[in-house]
Amino acid sequence: MCGIVGYIGDKKAVPILIEGLEKLEYRGYDSAGIAVHHQGEIHVRKYKGRLSVLAKHVNQETLTSFVGIGHTRWATHGEPSDRNAHPHTSVAGNIAVIHNGIIENYMKIKEWLIQEKGITFKSETDTEVIAHLIDQYYDGDLLQAVYKAISKMEGAYAIGVICKEEPEKIVAVRKDSPLIVGLGEGENFIASDIPALLKYTKKMHLIENDEVVLLTKDEVKIYNELGQEMNRDVFHVTWDAEAAEKEGYQHFMIKEINEQPKGVSETLMRRLDKEDHIVLDGIELTKEDLTHINKIYIVACGTAYHAGLVGRYLIEKFAKIPVEVDISSEFRYRDPFVDENTLFIAISQSGETLDTLAALREAKRKGARILSVVNVVGSSVARESHDVFYTWAGPEIAVASTKAYTTQLIAMYLIALHMAKTTDVICDEYYQKVIGELKILPEKIERILGDIDRIQHLADAQFNNESVFFMGRGVDVNVAHEGSLKLKEISYINSFAIAAGELKHGTIALIEDGTLVVALATQDRLYEKMLSNIQEVRARGAYVVAVAKEGNKEIEKTADVVLYIPDTMDELTPVLSAVPLQLFAYFIAVARGCDVDKPKNLAKSVTVE
Ligand code: F6R
Repeated sequence: MCGIVGYIGDKKAVPILIEGLEKLEYRGYDSAGIAVHHQGEIHVRKYKGRLSVLAKHVNQETLTSFVGIGHTRWATHGEPSDRNAHPHTSVAGNIAVIHNGIIENYMKIKEWLIQEKGITFKSETDTEVIAHLIDQYYDGDLLQAVYKAISKMEGAYAIGVICKEEPEKIVAVRKDSPLIVGLGEGENFIASDIPALLKYTKKMHLIENDEVVLLTKDEVKIYNELGQEMNRDVFHVTWDAEAAEKEGYQHFMIKEINEQPKGVSETLMRRLDKEDHIVLDGIELTKEDLTHINKIYIVACGTAYHAGLVGRYLIEKFAKIPVEVDISSEFRYRDPFVDENTLFIAISQSGETLDTLAALREAKRKGARILSVVNVVGSSVARESHDVFYTWAGPEIAVASTKAYTTQLIAMYLIALHMAKTTDVICDEYYQKVIGELKILPEKIERILGDIDRIQHLADAQFNNESVFFMGRGVDVNVAHEGSLKLKEISYINSFAIAAGELKHGTIALIEDGTLVVALATQDRLYEKMLSNIQEVRARGAYVVAVAKEGNKEIEKTADVVLYIPDTMDELTPVLSAVPLQLFAYFIAVARGCDVDKPKNLAKSVTVE
C-alpha cells in the first residue's frame, strides 16, 4: 500500500518525484523519501511524517539530477521513522530500492546476509534485504542482478531500483503489487498508479505480474520472468489530471461526495440501450451460463463488502438466486464450497486489494467463474477476472470511499436485474419500473446535496460524541454498516452498526442518556417495527437521528432529528441514504479537526494481507 514513483529523462527529477508522490500520498503517508543520482553518487533523502516534511528539506538544497526514485510509506515492518523510510540502500550506497508490498521470506534472507555476508542492517524493514541482495549479485549488470535477487524473494512487491554504476537506468519489477510505466518524449516514468503520472503523460504500459522493466530515457523494455522481451500495447488514459485535483473543494472526500450524481449516471446510462434494457457488453451471463450457476459468492473488503451485502439482497430479490457474501480476508481460510458451477463476484474500487485478489485466485483455482466490479481500469482484479463490470466513478482519491460505493451499488442493481431478466424470473413491468427509478436517482442525489447545510448543522452539534450507534432493518442494516464505517474511519469516533431487531439481545445495554443513535427507517415494509426500535432506544435516553423518506412526517414525532431522502422504491433507498450518512461523517470529522482525506493508520489501496 505504499506508493512508488520513478523518473528518468532530461528534466530535473526531484520536483517530478515530489509531485508524483503527492498524487500517491493516499496510498500511505507515514514517511517519504527519494533517491537520485547527483554528481556521481546516489543521494537519499527520507523523513518520517508527511510528504511535506521531505518536500521542505529537498527544497532547501540543490540536487541536480535527471534520474531518481521516490516512495511514500504505509508502515508494515518497522515503525514509521527516518531510518525505516524508503529508499533503502546497500552497504556502500551504490544500490537504492523502493518497494510496495511485503517480502514474506525476508527473515530468512536477512539471516543469510548477516551470517554469510556480514551485513549490518540499518532498518527494521523487509525492504532493506532487497538492496543488499541485489548488491550481492551485482557484477556490472543491474538488470541481471535484479533477476537473481527476485528469484530468492517470496511475497508481493513492486520495486524500483537505481544503481550508482549505471546512472542511465531504472529497473522495476512487479509481482502482485501494482506498477505502471509512463511513456514520454525523451523521458520515462514508473508509478504505482496512474494519477501520479497524468500531468506528464497519458500514454502508459500496464505491467503484468512477474515482469521486469528496464527504463532508460529513450526506451522502455519489458521482460517476462524468463528474461524474454515482451510486446506491450500502449494504454491511453482517457481522463485528465484535473479529475484527480480538488478543484476548489476543501477535501477530496467532499468533492467526491458531490460527484456521485455524475458517477451514478455514467455507470447506469452506459449500460442501458435506447429501450432502457440493460446491456452488459463483454460480460458472459447468458441464460445457459446462469442455469449452470448454483451458487454465488460476493467477496470484498470494507466499503466494497457493504456494497456486496446490498448486492446479495438485490440478486436474491430480483433474480431469486441464493447468494453468500464474505469478507475477502476470511473467504479463503474457511475452505469455501466452490466449484465450476460457482459465480464469484469480487467488488473492489482499486482492483488491487490483496485480500480480494487472493480470494479471487482461490475461487478461480477451484473452477469458479469470476466476475469483478472494479473502478480502476486495468487493475489486477480486473485483469485476473473472466468478466469485468467497470464502475464509472472516476478516480477516487480520498481514503474514505464514497462515489465508488454508490457506483458499486448501481453495478449490483444492473447485474441483479440482468440476471433476473435473462432467466425470466422478473416481469417486464417491474423490471422497467426499477430501471425507470434508477434513472432518476442522480437528480435525487442532487437534491440531498442541495440540503448540505442542515446536515452540517447537525454534525456541528453532535461532533463531541464518543460513540454512535447505527441501526436499521432489511437492506437498511447494510447501509447502517457503511454509515458507521464512514464515521469511524475519518472521525475516530467509536461507532457500531446493528440490525435493529438484534439490539434487545445485548447491545441495548449500552444505550444511556444522550447516546447518539442513527436510525435508518426507509423500508415501508419494516417501518412499524423500526419505529418500535426507535422508541426502545429513546426510552433509554438516546438522541435519535432518523433517515427516512420524504413525506414521512410521522417519524418526526418519534425521532429527535430526521434527515430526509427523496421518495423512491424500497429497493433503491441504499443509494440515497448513503449520501446523508457520508455528509454526516464528513462534517463531524471536519468539526473534530481530523485529516479527512488521510485518516490515521489507513491507506487507500491495501496491497498487503
Ligand atoms: C472505506 C474504504 C475501504 C475499502 C476497502 C476495499 O471507506 O474505502 O474499506 O472499501 O479497503 O478497497 P477496494 O474497494 O479498493 O478493494
